Amino acid sequence: MRALLVGSLAAGLIAGTALSAPRSYSVPDPTAELKAPRDGEGGSQGRGFAAAQANCQTCHSVDYIATQPPGRGKAFWDAEVTKMIKVYHAPIDEADGRAISAYLADTY
Ligand code: HEC
Repeated sequence: MRALLVGSLAAGLIAGTALSAPRSYSVPDPTAELKAPRDGEGGSQGRGFAAAQANCQTCHSVDYIATQPPGRGKAFWDAEVTKMIKVYHAPIDEADGRAISAYLADTY
């Protein structure tokens, strides 16, 4: 009796798995965007802005940046960028990383 019960439960699970259709879904468009540098995209922080756009929204939304308290300064953003690279393995080269933290410190 018990073996029968376990057997039919297992059969049910297998059938359930086989019957369930693959799910597809699309993620919503990100709502937040990186702020343009104060002196425009061609200005002193333009490189950091471009590098941040290319590198800082692949794993998470811009909200992670935008919701940090304002005025945290270069040391904070240096540490954040370093953490993204060292801890989370973001593939960002050193020069781009420095440009990104300069842009973030100046803009946020
Ligand atoms: C390889 C993936 C990846 C990339 C690329 C990445 N991040 Fe992150 N980031 C993470 C993860 C993982 C967390 C932590 C999420 C959590 O704790 O919920 C995080 C969190 C953050 C936070 C929130 C504070 C904190 O330290 O947890 C900030 C700010 C941040 N990232 C900034 C950046 C910036 C700036 C860049 C571009 C230089 C960047 N991220 C690129 C993975 C990434």
